[in-house]
Amino acid sequence: MKTVIITGASRGIGLAAAKKFIAEGWKVIGTYNKNLIPIDSSNLVSIQLDQGSPESISWAVDKIGELNIKVDALINNAGVVLDAHENAANVEKIRKTFDIDLFGLIDLTEKLLPLMAHGCHIVNLDSNYGSFSFPIDDESSSGYRLAKAALNMYSRMLAFRLKDGGIIVSSLDPGWVKTDMGNDVASETEKPDREPEQPAEDIYNLVTTVTESGYFWKFGKKREW
Ligand SMILES: NC(=O)c1ccc[n+]([C@@H]2O[C@H](COP(=O)([O-])OP(=O)(O)OC[C@H]3O[C@@H](n4cnc5c(N)ncnc54)[C@H](OP(=O)(O)O)[C@@H]3O)[C@@H](O)[C@H]2O)c1
Repeated sequence: MKTVIITGASRGIGLAAAKKFIAEGWKVIGTYNKNLIPIDSSNLVSIQLDQGSPESISWAVDKIGELNIKVDALINNAGVVLDAHENAANVEKIRKTFDIDLFGLIDLTEKLLPLMAHGCHIVNLDSNYGSFSFPIDDESSSGYRLAKAALNMYSRMLAFRLKDGGIIVSSLDPGWVKTDMGNDVASETEKPDREPEQPAEDIYNLVTTVTESGYFWKFGKKREW
């Protein structure tokens, strides 16, 4: 049985991905922060993780290590937008967003590398908002955009570092999805159009079919960074 770690598996895209992997016969190690993972399955191991806390990251990695398994995929999905409707750069919110969406993600990933099996696929959930090729049409969510832009560079650098090590690294843009986060950044006129099950399918297909490393994926195809 293959094993996937999915961070932020309690809601939204992470929850849909956890259900998909379990349905396909995988063991899922799912993390949650404040809300328990609403899945009743013997193939789910739930672990508490606050990605903004170095102590919590170390604790969660120890718990995963105690399971004595090799990891076949890591889905770095947990994340926050703290400045969805703000136009000015709020440094405190940028810092907090970086702690969770970037520094915590890097810390967790680096600590998990020794547990990864040959062929393991790391998928970092990114966004149009982290893309340099996507036009900027407003100044909202600046902390989130900055963190996701830096995350894309981490994906590229990690792919480069691991290119001979049998570990694949991808960034994935899920589109605009009907989740708490997707709805938070919506307006009266513009709203998310994808169900969480659609990016869950994209993530599963990426992990199970793609062996090229160091690309940014959207809807099953490579996209511009
Ligand atoms: N939704 C979209 O349209 C969209 C578009 C582009 C990219 N993305 C990316 O896709 C990923 C998932 O987004 P989503 O829309 O599914 O978000 P969501 O519905 O808001 O769910 C966020 C998840 O992250 C967890 N989380 C929040 N703060 C955390 C922390 N400090 N430590 C650890 N876990 C934490 C939450 O856990 P609790 O429930 O326990 O709080 C929850 O499981 C994110 O990386 C996001 O940036 C989403």
